[in-house]
Amino acid sequence: MVVRHTMKSVTERAIDVMIRNDRGGFTVPTDRLYPFQWNWDSALAALGFATFNADRAWQEIETLCKGQWPDGMLPHIIFHEPDKDYFPGPDVWGTNQTPPSSGHSQPPVVSSVVLQLVNQTQQLNKADSLFSALFAYHQWFHDYRDPDNTGLVAAIHPWETGRDNCPDWDSGMAAVEIPVNLPAYRRRDTTQVNPEHRPSDRQYDQFLSIVKFGKDCLWNHHAIYRHGPFLMADPGIQFILLRADRDLLTLAHRVGKTREAAVISDWIDRSLAGCDGLWNPSANGFCAKNLRTGEFSKAITNASMLCFYADAGSETQRNHMLDHANEIAAGVKYTFPSWDPRDSQFEPQRYWRGPVWAILNNLIADGLERCGHDSLAARIHSDTLQLIENAGFSEYFDPGTGAGLGGKTFTWTAAMYLHIRDKST
Ligand code: GLC
Repeated sequence: MVVRHTMKSVTERAIDVMIRNDRGGFTVPTDRLYPFQWNWDSALAALGFATFNADRAWQEIETLCKGQWPDGMLPHIIFHEPDKDYFPGPDVWGTNQTPPSSGHSQPPVVSSVVLQLVNQTQQLNKADSLFSALFAYHQWFHDYRDPDNTGLVAAIHPWETGRDNCPDWDSGMAAVEIPVNLPAYRRRDTTQVNPEHRPSDRQYDQFLSIVKFGKDCLWNHHAIYRHGPFLMADPGIQFILLRADRDLLTLAHRVGKTREAAVISDWIDRSLAGCDGLWNPSANGFCAKNLRTGEFSKAITNASMLCFYADAGSETQRNHMLDHANEIAAGVKYTFPSWDPRDSQFEPQRYWRGPVWAILNNLIADGLERCGHDSLAARIHSDTLQLIENAGFSEYFDPGTGAGLGGKTFTWTAAMYLHIRDKST
């Protein structure tokens, strides 16, 4: 008897996940848990699409840019269609934008993705049409998140960093008071995934208190920077923006935008110098910093490791970071944990307090490769593929056991599988 082999390959299943999460022009991060378009999820999803459908990859970015605010911001969530199962929805944010959106941004990886798409598809004309939106987005980050031109770019909410409940934010969050008139609400996330792995209820109240502040001041981002309850500098945003500025500069040269190129070069110089402000001498590494108090977070995260990706830091600083990377990698089965396992606050299963995220792995490995640290980059790539092959397209993974955690069938995990596989073949 001939047994037909009908099992799909992991690559085929990754494509299925992306197609299933496609809502026509944009993907949702995963069904139900996150039913809208998220900024950096979408940008990174485009890298997955690029491996099998270049037009669809470009479309993902074009749809993201449709949510751009008049001042240039690309918001972190675009609520294209209503979904009553999601909290906090458009009424909680109260941003009065069309299409409805949240009120702050997310790590600005999009221009770097566009440069990769150009390199892969040779469609420079597509980048040309997107250029002014991307330029305005970067300008927004520099103007509204660093209004005093310090070179250090701030985040006004842990959600803006994309690493929601990382201990990096504990110092900033300690000052966030919950107003007595915070409207009552019911969380939806904990009804859909294991509450043990999600942010605590108190943290959630605080997240919503920051949103309330933004809504109450009509999302005036200068006022939020000066007086908001939370203001921290994030190595993730700092390094991702710096790299994105470099990539936008390459695009500017290619599409002949001389005036913009000069402006971008200034941003790069300023941000490069600003990175020093994230150097925490007691951790001997790049750490998050509370811009209200000057206090540093105490440990190394997967975002700290993006210094290589941004080509930032002195040689001595990079050597220290490489030592950290090697020690951390030696302490886990699967790289790269979101919080330093040498620190007592490490929690291998709780969201951004320890687990591995495929998207960060991809960016870290990209940077390590650029800086010539090929073997560590190869380990991170191969760990990422193995995690996904063994545990599926989970939102994040336990660095010790490799268990898949959080939402299943995640777009960006599938996209990273396709992208890393594609790069390594
Ligand atoms: C969570 C993550 C964030 C991501 C979003 C959608 O909030 O922390 O980084 O963009 O989910 O996947």
